[in-house]
Amino acid sequence: MSLLIALILLFSLSLYVEFTQDEVSYTSAYVPINYLHKSDICSILSIALPLKNDSNFKIRVDTHHSRRTMLYFLLAIKSKSNNTRVLHFIDECYPNLNWSIVENNYHHLKNVVELYQAKYHAEKLGNYWELKIANHFSGPIHSRKYINRYRSKGFQPDELKIYWNYNQIYLLQSYFEYNPITDTDARNALSKSPVHKRKHSGKIQFIISGIQHAVFKVPKNKQVIVLDFADERMPGGYFLENAMTQEEVILYNSDGYQALLDLKYKMMDGGYMLPEYGVAYIKRVRFFQKQSNNERLTDLIVAACYDLSGQGEGLYIPPLSNDMQQIRSRTLQKFQAIIASAVANTEGDGGDTYLLLGPIGTGAFKNDKKMIAELFFQVLNNPLMNSYQSIRYAFDQIWFVSTDNHQIFEEVFKNH
Ligand SMILES: *[C@@H]1O[C@H](CO)[C@@H](O)[C@H](O)[C@H]1NC(C)=O
Ligand SMILES: *[C@@H]1O[C@H](CO)[C@@H](O)[C@H](O)[C@H]1NC(C)=O
Ligand SMILES: *[C@@H]1O[C@H](CO)[C@@H](O)[C@H](O)[C@H]1NC(C)=O
Repeated sequence: MSLLIALILLFSLSLYVEFTQDEVSYTSAYVPINYLHKSDICSILSIALPLKNDSNFKIRVDTHHSRRTMLYFLLAIKSKSNNTRVLHFIDECYPNLNWSIVENNYHHLKNVVELYQAKYHAEKLGNYWELKIANHFSGPIHSRKYINRYRSKGFQPDELKIYWNYNQIYLLQSYFEYNPITDTDARNALSKSPVHKRKHSGKIQFIISGIQHAVFKVPKNKQVIVLDFADERMPGGYFLENAMTQEEVILYNSDGYQALLDLKYKMMDGGYMLPEYGVAYIKRVRFFQKQSNNERLTDLIVAACYDLSGQGEGLYIPPLSNDMQQIRSRTLQKFQAIIASAVANTEGDGGDTYLLLGPIGTGAFKNDKKMIAELFFQVLNNPLMNSYQSIRYAFDQIWFVSTDNHQIFEEVFKNH
């Protein structure tokens, strides 16, 4: 009898501990509430409380617990002081939001195994199940070997950055709100070498190569920043299934998959999403060369374009396919965040930084290559982050890397 009581006590105690841990974890989540736009808030709400008439919504928002993560960020926003401005946006995007529904949904989903994990029958493996399941594909096997070499303890908190939008990165230069854990280095670099003083060669080149080879072509004393053409809904896209788009190729040749899982489990409460208008930025991802013992440290900009294929692979519902103006203007915002994240994270003043970009979004996600080239042209050849000159001169070199030819990109960059 007393054993039963003890068990019940123990059980309720553990429930209590779990509950208070959730509370603590979302109140400590960093969300730049003073820098979010209404569009960011509407975007968060579109995933946290999706319209149930979208037939695909459960697969889209729950397979990787993206909805739970957005509920988590929403509760974090609510818990912040001085949040009147964002609460007003929330009311505009979602009139009469019932917060107890937000809390109930979050706590319900905290006890639900993500659909993807269940699909792999990995319910019992807990966090980081992706690295524990049996996997016989060569890509994931190599990736695990690389992770074990230096990253068995994972990436550090200051190496895992989440930028919700360009505004957040732009304002790192001011002395207002910022995340002291992730962005003390970026702020120091920006104040030491203000962007308007950076006057480097800004040379643009087109390289036909796989990204895993291109990083080794950069001279050894230079910093490499690589754009990962990422999946906004699944960490690493179809990594576990041995797919071969640019993102998986990066992850099969580096220890970057660990970083994406650390984003998921350490920064996003066990779910995954990339902000619609922002990026994740990972410091010190190491590429490995299979044939040699060569290693190359890089930074990774993890960003995604809209999925315009009609296959519904994306997390966010894209603008209508005939609304080119919306597609362009929103993709432009993504690109501003991509380039700004690189500017903010150059080592020193950027004079030794190679930025490796490419035709993001033009594969499976079917974005128009000419549009992508034009948007990169537009961002790189205009001021950004308070620069006087075009922002391309904040870097030593910018490479567009692709296994395909660069004809459309070269035309766009030549004609202007
Ligand atoms: C409070 O919010 C307003 C509006 O977003 C902002 O201008 C102000 O700096 C914030 N104050 C503090 C102390 O964070
Ligand atoms: C779902 O409902 C919203 C608002 O009621 C509407 O704007 C939207 O077009 C609907 N979507 C579909 C796929 O029916
Ligand atoms: C909010 O939702 C809760 C539980 O789902 C319900 O009991 C309550 O009446 C709702 N409040 C309003 C103002 O609708």
